[in-house]
Amino acid sequence: MKKLRWLHRYMPEYLKLAVPAWVALLVEVLVDLSLPTLMASIVNIGIRNSDTPYILRTGGIMLGLALFGSLMGLARNWLSTKVSQDLGTLIRADLFRKAQRLSMSAILKFGPSSMITRLTNDVMQVQNMSFMLTRIFIRAPLLLLGSVIMAFILNPGLAMILVGVIPVLGFLIWLRIQRGLPLFKKVQAAIDRVNGVMREYLGGVRVVKVFNRHRYEQDKFDAANQNLTGLGVKAARSMATIQPLMLVLMNGSIILIIWFGGIRISAGNMLVGDIIAFINYSLQILQSMMMVSWIFTAGVRAKTSGDRIGEVFGLEDGMPLPEEPVVPVGQGALEMRNAAFCWPGQSIPVLKDISFRVEPGQTVALIGSTGSGKSSLVNLFSRFYDVSEGAVLVDGQDVRAYGLSELRSRIAMVPQQAILFTGTIRDNLRWGRPNATEEELEAAVRLACADEFIPKLPDGYDTWIGQGGVNLSGGQKQRLCIARALLCSAPVLVMDDSTSAIDMGTESRIRSRLRQHAQNMTVLLIAQRIHSVMNADRILVLDEGKLVGSGSHAALLEDCPIYRDIYRSQMGLDRSGKEVV
Ligand code: UTP
Ligand code: MG
Repeated sequence: MKKLRWLHRYMPEYLKLAVPAWVALLVEVLVDLSLPTLMASIVNIGIRNSDTPYILRTGGIMLGLALFGSLMGLARNWLSTKVSQDLGTLIRADLFRKAQRLSMSAILKFGPSSMITRLTNDVMQVQNMSFMLTRIFIRAPLLLLGSVIMAFILNPGLAMILVGVIPVLGFLIWLRIQRGLPLFKKVQAAIDRVNGVMREYLGGVRVVKVFNRHRYEQDKFDAANQNLTGLGVKAARSMATIQPLMLVLMNGSIILIIWFGGIRISAGNMLVGDIIAFINYSLQILQSMMMVSWIFTAGVRAKTSGDRIGEVFGLEDGMPLPEEPVVPVGQGALEMRNAAFCWPGQSIPVLKDISFRVEPGQTVALIGSTGSGKSSLVNLFSRFYDVSEGAVLVDGQDVRAYGLSELRSRIAMVPQQAILFTGTIRDNLRWGRPNATEEELEAAVRLACADEFIPKLPDGYDTWIGQGGVNLSGGQKQRLCIARALLCSAPVLVMDDSTSAIDMGTESRIRSRLRQHAQNMTVLLIAQRIHSVMNADRILVLDEGKLVGSGSHAALLEDCPIYRDIYRSQMGLDRSGKEVV
């Protein structure tokens, strides 16, 4: 139950509508409970004495009560629907907010597919349960208790039959829950997997088509889908056996009641009307036990889902933040002091003992073979992750001393993967600064050389981009990402291999425009091509997580063997400087 503690915070809001629903429910139950007794009196008094006015009067009261009960039922239904839908909306909103606060490593703990299931399907289960709670939870025990009491009042001897059956039914329900709980946990995990396969397919649909892997993907999906079906059927079956068992038991007890009641009537110890009422109460008991079994089925699912939602709420929020964040001042100096970094959950550092400084306004390039840790290094400045040793400084202050949004608004980032969002080109460009003017927008677009293709698109700036920017070429996406970052007008610009899909001519145009129009900006530039880094103020060479060189192109050619190797391989020269054929 500890994992369900997160539900507490929704209680005040929930109870506001749930309590009126329960009051309406209570009235309904009282009506239901009074009807069989009134009916008994019609039989015992009205029919027995052929007292038609009494029959009509009592019948009229029954009709009135039934109508009133239905009205209450309507109100209760409206309230329960509203309260459960509202609850679902609140939980989803909070989950999304929580997901936004989580650090990268926390999000990766469950993975995107599971996060999506938790936000949709799991919340739905909790929502269902809350609906059931306001519809039948109170009703079932009240009806059960009331019916038992009324049965006792009518005939304590016969009522003992019911008292004997109810605990057996209760035990059956308990037994099923014990079996059901672990099964439903597996069902939710299976939904995660189905979502996961679908997500991966949709994300990599082009690759699947290129490699003609449809059959393989289909099989993978079928396996996940079959698994879900199997588990779902098993779980539902384990719960479904309750109902027939209960029916057998209850009908058995009704036979006993008629049997013993018959004997009593023959002996003149009981009235016919009483036995009719008694059977009515027994049926109500049966009905309420059924409701209890439904609610427990829903409860078992909701508990599993509630736990899963609780796990998300239980994740540590992002990173430890300073109590009193420092306000950033400065023009955008970057520094690392003996920084080391390990990916979360791994023990081998991918960056070791890195120290360097970038002065405001400088352009520093970072080069190194793939996997050498370039992206990991720049991630540290925006504090996507924290260093495991040493320090990362922006404008002379440790990044851990700033508020996260203040820090990140100082560093405009062009990530290695050109990620765009559903919406128009204009929407995407304005991400970093929604209130940017049209002139600023166009200036950023010109700097990124995106003015060369945007006007040619069918709707120019209003061209709709699909999810992930599917309808643009790689180089177009990269240029939009550069423009988006430039529009932030942050003092620091980090470009992580963001011209890899752009042809050399365009790339050098972007570089020269940046040099002319953004001289005050500090630029940290990652690139694979020597051409892209040659003109930087300084070049840092990274090899297997270590900084092995720092200096100008000419200096590095002189004294950094690794840089020389990269240069030679890209110029098509061998180690002795001869051209390779
Ligand atoms: P990087 O992603 O920092 O390398 O990964 P890089 O220099 O930028 O490489 P390219 O040029 O973009 O290809 C450095 C190391 O960090 C590990 C990888 O094993 C890699 O060797 N890594 C990277 C992780 O463990 N997890 C990740 O999410 C990313
Ligand atoms: Mg990289």
